[in-house]
Amino acid sequence: MRCPSDPLRIGIAGLGTVGTGTVRLLQTHDELIRSRCGRHIRIAAVSARDRRKGRGVDVSAARWYDDAVAMAGDPELDAVVELVGGADGVALALVRAAIGEGRHVVTANKAMMAERGCELARAAEQAGVTLAYEASVAGGIPVIKLIREGLAANGVSRVYGILNGTSNYILSVMRESGREFDDVLAEAQALGYAESDPSFDVDGVDAAHKLAILTSLAFGCEVDFGAVHIEGIRHVSAMDIRYAGELGYKIKLLGVARRTDEGVEQRVHPCMVPAESPIGSVEGVYNGVVAEGDFAGSLMAEGRGAGAGPTASAVVADLIDIARGNRPPTFAVAASALAPSRPLPMDSHRGPYYIRLTVVDLPGVIADVTAIFRDFEISIESIVQRGRAPGETVSVVMIVHETAEAAMTSALARIAKLDSVTERPQMIRIEDF
Ligand code: HSE
Repeated sequence: MRCPSDPLRIGIAGLGTVGTGTVRLLQTHDELIRSRCGRHIRIAAVSARDRRKGRGVDVSAARWYDDAVAMAGDPELDAVVELVGGADGVALALVRAAIGEGRHVVTANKAMMAERGCELARAAEQAGVTLAYEASVAGGIPVIKLIREGLAANGVSRVYGILNGTSNYILSVMRESGREFDDVLAEAQALGYAESDPSFDVDGVDAAHKLAILTSLAFGCEVDFGAVHIEGIRHVSAMDIRYAGELGYKIKLLGVARRTDEGVEQRVHPCMVPAESPIGSVEGVYNGVVAEGDFAGSLMAEGRGAGAGPTASAVVADLIDIARGNRPPTFAVAASALAPSRPLPMDSHRGPYYIRLTVVDLPGVIADVTAIFRDFEISIESIVQRGRAPGETVSVVMIVHETAEAAMTSALARIAKLDSVTERPQMIRIEDF
C-alpha cells in the first residue's frame, strides 16, 4: 500500500529529444517538483531502441526495457510516459497495456490522441487512471490546461491557432525575404528546422492532429480527425504574401475549430489574418492558440511548440498533476458523455476570400470574371490589377465579401475555364476576428 507522500514512480518509453529532455528536467528540478507536489517523481524504468546510445543523461538507476510494452507490466510503476510517437504500433500497444495494468499515462503523441483519443479516454476512465496529453498540442504552451481548466466555466465558440512551427517559420521567412516556398523549405531542411520528409508539417497533417484534439476539448465532442479539412502551404507564393502585406494581412497556416447550431467546423489551411492581430504577430517557429470563451472573452497563449525543453515542461506538468492527485476528465467531460462530432462539410464554410487571377490584359476580361461572380451571388469588395501589359498576362487581385465556400469553388472552376485566364486561380481564405 502506497502512502500519498511516496514518490510517484514512472517509466519513460522513448529517449529521443523529448525523452532525454524529460529526464533532464526531472533531474534538474527534483527538489522543486517535490516542494510543489509533496512527493518526488522517480524514474524507475526506461525503454528505448538502443541501450548503448549516448544520450547525455544518466538513467543507469532505472530498469531498462528493450520492449516498451513489457515495461507497462512493471509492477512498481504508477505511471508510464509514452514518447515513442506514431498513431499505432508500439505507442498504442504500450498505452493500451499501461491502462490495462491500471497505470496512469502521459503522452506527447498527437497522432495517437487525434486518431485513438476517444477509445483511450474511455479505457482510462473505466480503469480509473489519468490519460494526460498536454505535450501533444503546441509543445510548451499549456493550451490543454488553458481550455480544460482555465475556461472550464465558459462556453467556447471558436478555437484557432498556429499549431505548426515549421510552417510558421517557412511563411515568416518567405515574408521577410520575398523568397519562394521551395527555396525556403530547402534551407530550413539544411539548417535542421524542417524534417527531410516535411509533408506532415507543410501539408497540414500535424496541425490537423492538434486541432482535432483541441476541438474535442473545447466543444465536448468526440475527437474526429477524419472530419478536419486539411490544406498545406505548398501553394502559397511569394507574390501572394506580398499582396497580403499590401492589403494589411499576413498569411498563416491556421487551424480553426468553430461550433455553430448546425455542427462543428474543423479546418487547417493558409489564412489571411490582419497583420496587427495577436495571431498575426506570432512569427518564426512559435505557436499561438486563441480560445474564445463566452464569459472570459478571447485568450491567446503563445510560445514554443516543439523542442526538448518546452515539450518536457508539458510532460512533467502532467506528471505533477498526477502526483498531486489532480484528475480532470480527459477531454473536459467524461469520455462516456462526449457528444457526436457533428462535422460540417467545408462547402458550408462562409467567409471572405482573397482571389488572385493571372489573366491576359485585354478588354472584357474583368467583365467575364465579374459576370461569373454575379451568377454565384458573390459580392466583390475590391479589385486591383497589378501592372499593365496589353496582350500579355497580369495579376488581378480581388477581395470578396463573405460568401459560401461552395459558391466560391464553383465560380473559380468556371473562371479557370475562361480563355483569358492562363493559370489556376489562387484562393486564400480570410479569417475574420
Ligand atoms: N513538427 C511540429 C512543428 C512540432 O513543426 O511544429 C511537433 O508537433
